[in-house]
Amino acid sequence: MNLPSIAPAVVQWQASHGRNHLPWQQTRDPYRVWLSEIMLQQTQVSTVLGYYQRFLDAFPDVASLAAAPQDAVLALWSGLGYYSRARNLHKCAQAVMELWGGEFPCTAEELASLPGIGRSTAGAIASFCFSERVPILDANVRRVLTRVLAFDGDLAQSRNEKLLWEQAQQLCPTQDLEAAMPRYTQGMMDLGASICTPRKPSCLVCPLHGECRAGRAGNPENYPVRTRKLKRSSESWWLLIAMDGQSRVWLQKRPQAGIWAGLYSPPVFDSYAALKQFVQTSWLGTEEPAWQDLPAFLHVLTHKDLHLHPVLVSLDKARAAMVAEAGEACWADAVAWADLGLPAPIRKLLDSELA
Ligand code: ADE
Repeated sequence: MNLPSIAPAVVQWQASHGRNHLPWQQTRDPYRVWLSEIMLQQTQVSTVLGYYQRFLDAFPDVASLAAAPQDAVLALWSGLGYYSRARNLHKCAQAVMELWGGEFPCTAEELASLPGIGRSTAGAIASFCFSERVPILDANVRRVLTRVLAFDGDLAQSRNEKLLWEQAQQLCPTQDLEAAMPRYTQGMMDLGASICTPRKPSCLVCPLHGECRAGRAGNPENYPVRTRKLKRSSESWWLLIAMDGQSRVWLQKRPQAGIWAGLYSPPVFDSYAALKQFVQTSWLGTEEPAWQDLPAFLHVLTHKDLHLHPVLVSLDKARAAMVAEAGEACWADAVAWADLGLPAPIRKLLDSELA
């Protein structure tokens, strides 16, 4: 199939209509570009701006990030969600130090061998920093390209995904790559974010309206085609909010896998009975603790609705003293929990109910 030529129009449009003043566009330092791309994967630009600057203030280069404790990294990520990104970010920094002598590799293929860097993120870093002629194919660009090409293969099937990558590769600029590749990559992102939106795309002002097969057919919203649907589930968690009589709450580090992996949280139980039994059998004391049910609330994750039921338990001093701090569990007051990596809904709960 003959492919249309889209790169010159995308590059030209990006220069006059695209985003050119974002902080991570003022540099070709792969550390900074990588950090921004990981943050931007599931988070919008306006949210990332503040986190990006705070993160760079704390970790100005890959060496300082690699040397930091995981908790410090998770604490700065707190509120951005999708914490596997932060854990992989940290692992990636360590891999760059150990395997690449502290310098990010400069090809997409090598970048994609690092933790947390998928093919599209590798393409973004390599094209932005090194002008490599490689495509990206994140959700926005997938939408732009399937529409331009009227690509109707089901992207849930890997052979169609592969075919689209091949066509994306061919559509990259062929001239003046040094300047054109970064602009083209950013332009494809910008088109997907501002013009070629999921619903009601602005085809009349699109620089590709002459080339776009779906636009001409009047059915851009039919693309991309994907059959697989996310299966959602739901779970109820009872949160043991134990207080020690000195405004401190009991927090423990969650396991490295699963929901909120590696973050600090009050202990979690799958029933009220299990929570009560734990307190009565593990934390022995003479006085019955005071129980108070706090309002339950819903926290929505990508694949799961979490129904959270906080139960406030006030321990007398003697019983609290029985609850010994260990490496990954501690009594924390508001000053201490401000610096811990907490899931956003837990931070909100503690700040609103206990601080
Ligand atoms: N989303 C992912 N990468 C981006 C970038 N470089 N600029 C704006 N939004 C993005």
